[in-house]
Amino acid sequence: MKSLIIYYSYYNKNTEKIAKILADKTNAEIINLKETNIAVDLDSYDLIGFGSGVYNESLSPILYKAVEG
Ligand SMILES: Cc1cc2nc3c(=O)[nH]c(=O)nc-3n(C[C@H](O)[C@H](O)[C@H](O)COP(=O)(O)O)c2cc1C
Repeated sequence: MKSLIIYYSYYNKNTEKIAKILADKTNAEIINLKETNIAVDLDSYDLIGFGSGVYNESLSPILYKAVEG
């Protein structure tokens, strides 16, 4: 199964630490939206996970934008 974790993490990189552990356990690829905005063919993945720190009582707007396409 091909898996991907898309996340936004910048402050303490806490979300990134969790994303990396999950990716390691599930053999998933990871993308930090803070560092890249490359186009990804989401249809090529069987499982996609999302992550973000909480910033001002919300997940990152950058993550929402990426999900909405
Ligand atoms: C600008 C800013 C706003 C934050 N707002 C909240 C918040 O509203 N509620 C909360 O529980 N934590 C808040 N936090 C704490 C972050 O969610 C926490 O530090 C988290 O680990 C950040 O994720 P990251 O290290 O992956 O960027 C805020 C942190 C920052 C820097």
